[in-house]
Amino acid sequence: MAERIELRVNDRNQVVEVEPFTTLAECLRNQLGLIGVRVSCNQGDCGACTILVDGQPVNACMELAIEAEGRSVTTIEGLARNGHLHPIQQAFVEHHGMQCGFCTPGMIMVARALLESNPAPTEQEVKEALVGNICRCGSYPKIITSVLSAAQTMREG
Ligand code: FES
Ligand code: FES
Repeated sequence: MAERIELRVNDRNQVVEVEPFTTLAECLRNQLGLIGVRVSCNQGDCGACTILVDGQPVNACMELAIEAEGRSVTTIEGLARNGHLHPIQQAFVEHHGMQCGFCTPGMIMVARALLESNPAPTEQEVKEALVGNICRCGSYPKIITSVLSAAQTMREG
């Protein structure tokens, strides 16, 4: 039985109609058009679908949409401000932190949460934060460089 719920997504209130079994990833992609939420394994293994819920990284394929009611959801589409990429996005562009780009939104959302709690991470801390995110293209060195560069840019403000 479909149910209407209100979600707070990228600082906007959104009313959606979901089944009890609709995942947050399905809801964000199919109902709100937020296709930056990538779905690959659909079983919590790859991190492609990572978003932030109340500031914490979450695999959107493993969360039910109804569980997100009343919580703050942020997707990759919510990072840019006034037409300017977020510094983490900008760093991924400048340091070629991607090849096909499929894993990139998830990587960036994890990095966003990491730099919020730890503005000056070591390389090892970046690796540990990204341990649940798989890059099939093997772009890890440039992804890590991108995150470290973004951290420096953000500290210099
Ligand atoms: S698609 Fe969600 S973890 Fe892989
Ligand atoms: S850049 Fe292709 S999967 Fe990571």
